[in-house]
Parts: sequence; C-alpha cells; structure tokens
Amino acid sequence: MAKSQQSDEEEIETENVEISEDVEYKDIKDLPGVGSTLASKLRNADYVDIMSLATANPLDLAEVCEIGEPTAKKIIAEARAAAKMNFLSGIEFEDRRKAVQRITTGSQTFDLLLGGGVETQAITECYGEFGSGKSQLAFQLAVNVQLQKEKGGLEGHVIWIDTEGTFRPARIEQLALSRNLDPKETLQNMKIGRAYSSDHQMLLIDKIPELVNKDPKIRLVIVDSMMALFRAEYVGRGTLADRQQKVNVILHNLQRYADRFNLAVYITNQVMARPDVMFGDPTVAVGGHIIGHVATYRVYLRKGKKGSRVARLIDSPSLPEGEAVFEVTAEGVKDVDEEKRK
Ligand code: GTP
Ligand code: MG
Repeated sequence: MAKSQQSDEEEIETENVEISEDVEYKDIKDLPGVGSTLASKLRNADYVDIMSLATANPLDLAEVCEIGEPTAKKIIAEARAAAKMNFLSGIEFEDRRKAVQRITTGSQTFDLLLGGGVETQAITECYGEFGSGKSQLAFQLAVNVQLQKEKGGLEGHVIWIDTEGTFRPARIEQLALSRNLDPKETLQNMKIGRAYSSDHQMLLIDKIPELVNKDPKIRLVIVDSMMALFRAEYVGRGTLADRQQKVNVILHNLQRYADRFNLAVYITNQVMARPDVMFGDPTVAVGGHIIGHVATYRVYLRKGKKGSRVARLIDSPSLPEGEAVFEVTAEGVKDVDEEKRK
C-alpha cells in the first residue's frame, strides 16, 4: 500500500487529541489505542514501526486498517510524540552524529577523500561514465561492510537494489575470498532486489524498513543505478517534472531510512554529455540538480592513467574538494601500487 508522500509535511491537527506525555514505546502494539489485533493489521499494511506510523497519512491509515479517522489521527499523534519527531537539541543532534560509522572503500586515499570511508546516515552518490568503477565500488562496499570493525567494516548486512541486471554473485564471492570472508555466507548476508520499472524500484525501496526490522544487522543499502529506469521510461520534456518528483521522493525516503536505521546508502548514477560546455569536462550526472541537493557526498569517477581510477569529491558538507587515485583489480578496490607501475 503506497502511503501518501505528502504525509511528512502535512500538519496533523492535534488540538483535540490528548497525547500521553513522555512515555517511551518501543513497539507499535504498545501505543495507546493500538492493541495486538490492530497492531497486526498495521503490520500487514506495512506500518511496521513507530516511525512509519508517525509519518503516516490519517486517511490512508483509516482506510487500510478500517478504523475511524479520529482514531487514526490519535494513533499518528501518539506515534509522533513517541518518535520524538520534533526538534532535537544541539546535544541530541551531536549524539546522533556520534552514531555515524564508516565503511572502507578498500583504498586508503579514497577513504581519506571521504573523511574516513562511506558514512552511515548519509547518501553517497558516485557518477561517471561506463566502466568507471561505480558498480565495482558497490560490490566492494557490499563485501567490506561485512568485515570486522578493525578491518574497516561494520559486521553488517546489505540490501542491494539492482536496476540494470548487473549484480554478479560470483564477483561478491571473489571479493569475499580475497578478504578472507566465507563467500557463501557473504552472499547469504545480502538481500538483492531486481527492479524492472521505476515504480518497482520505488516499491523495493519502500520495503527497506520491513527488511531492517527483520534483520537489524543491515547497515548498507545500494541502488545501482539510481536513474537508469527513470531515464529509459521518461523521454521527452513533458514528463520530466513528474520524473523529478518521483526521484525526489525516493531520495528523501532513502535519506530518512539512512537516519532512522543508521544505514549507509550508496547510489550510482550515469552521466550525459552537455553540449553547451565548451571548456573542461562536459559530463554531468543524470537526474539534474535533485540528486546533488539530496546526496550528502557526491563523487565523480573517471578513468585515469594506466588503468587507474580517479575519484573527485564534488559536494560534501564539511570536507574540502579533492581527488583520490585508486585501482580496481581482480581483488577489488585498492590503492595504486606505485612499485608495480615502475
Ligand atoms: P556502467 O554500469 O556501465 O555505467 O559502468 P560502471 O561504472 O558500473 O563500471 P564497473 O564498476 O562495472 O567497472 C568495470 C571495470 O572494472 C572494468 O572495465 C575493469 O576495468 C575493472 N575491473 C578490474 N578488475 C576487474 C575484475 O576482476 N572484475 C570486473 N568485473 N571488473 C574489473
Ligand atoms: Mg555499473
């Protein structure tokens, strides 16, 4: 059931709704007005946790759970109070930032460029031409996140949304072996969703909370690639606004899940040539400005000298722009071996 996307911005009238104060509820069935019967109805409709109720639309909720609208509003208001959805104090915000963790890319210079690796509670986007290494980095991160913390991982599991049919289990197994991980177990720790249309892609992304609820070890979500299906489906300018609106919703949902579940989100994106750029590099990321506005880290990947890859940090909240050179070999992403090059 698709929930109304406006629900976040919509003000729920809470004047006539009495809210229980300062009580912590962990499960939806504990919310006042929700018993175990209603809780299972809610779960069946994908309202699996307090936050999904807190951001629900009262009309949707009333309809799918066959309850009156006032009851729906009351439940949402309780969920909002329980989820402490209002402002955070500076200290609370700082505490939340302290929970940020990083996954190694496999290359120290690349990690350094990103401030220590790919961050949780953030979206990291890599864009670049075909063969620039976007998917290879995805494979590498999917393996590295499973490493122990001392080795740059989070002992975490992975959700992989494949929109191009380019996911290769054999590559995961190969990379796992070169990191001394059990190849089958590494694959077992991944959930792969193949998206066949942009709507399907949206649906799979909507499933993230449910998957994380079932497997709290999930720490990384990959979308490879973010725009491919949109690009194929939406041709001509007439539908561009509609496309951008959908992309915007997906990105904001991804960011919300990243914050809520402390997940790292890695998305890949293609490039197109801009005929109006006369000097410098004429390639830009597909999808217009939207992705750039939402992604926390934006990295441009290109092929460098002697088969190396160059990552350029385009946009980040606190890091300087810069470049890192690395390579992709059979063993995966790693620093350039200068000795071997001589
Ligand atoms: P598109 O999806 O086509 O836009 O490109 P991409 O950026 O996802 O490219 P990808 O990450 O698939 O990069 C593939 C490149 O990685 C190859 O062209 C090789 O140069 C390099 N590579 C180096 N070693 C290996 C290896 O052992 N396996 C694979 N699959 N690729 C390798
Ligand atoms: Mg690819």
